[in-house]
Amino acid sequence: MPPSVTPCAIVVLISGNGSNLQAIINATLNNSISAKISAVISNREDAYGLERAQKSGIATHVLSHQGYADRNSYDLALDKLITKINPDLVVLAGFMRILSDGFVEKYAGKLINIHPSLLPKYSGMLTHQRALAAGDTQHGATVHFVTAQLDAGPRIIQGKVPVKKDDDEQKLALRVLDVEHIIYPQAIQLITTQRIKLQNDQVLLDGAVLAEPILHD
Ligand code: GRF
Repeated sequence: MPPSVTPCAIVVLISGNGSNLQAIINATLNNSISAKISAVISNREDAYGLERAQKSGIATHVLSHQGYADRNSYDLALDKLITKINPDLVVLAGFMRILSDGFVEKYAGKLINIHPSLLPKYSGMLTHQRALAAGDTQHGATVHFVTAQLDAGPRIIQGKVPVKKDDDEQKLALRVLDVEHIIYPQAIQLITTQRIKLQNDQVLLDGAVLAEPILHD
């Protein structure tokens, strides 16, 4: 009998709908990623993603940011909770909080985020609105390692979508979400199988520096 391999343990942090979480859950269920979601943590108790996790029998934790004096004290509590769960990878999937430098440094190389733009374009908020206002013909999403600089960590994979003439923010956001649901599980698989690593602030793919993110279009 072949030796059994323990799948990589991941923790997913959310604040809301959790459609990316759902895509990751689906990828674990259909074995397209070799990872197990150990827990889902939300800073909001009304996040729909918590229901999605519970429906799939995944442990959930609500750690509300309310009642913490400042960002550092919340992040210390978050770190304590994650440390107990002891995952190999922490996945931010619509977690609407900026993490403190200390937290980010502690989890360097083990902390990833998905952002709804083709970074370095449009870091921060309102990415779809900004892409439309600029008249962009292409838009998309980026999975990146998280570093202290907001949305500026080394990029792993991008998914591009066209911007169509009759697009409004909502239509564009949905098209971008579709590609997010493809590239996030792919990024997780590349990391959990150790093909992608972070070293000296650079992304390595199969041991070679990845000068530009992998492109899905
Ligand atoms: C996504 O657009 C993601 O890129 C951004 O927040 C949104 C989360 O959506 N970080 P969901 O909760 O996964 O549906």
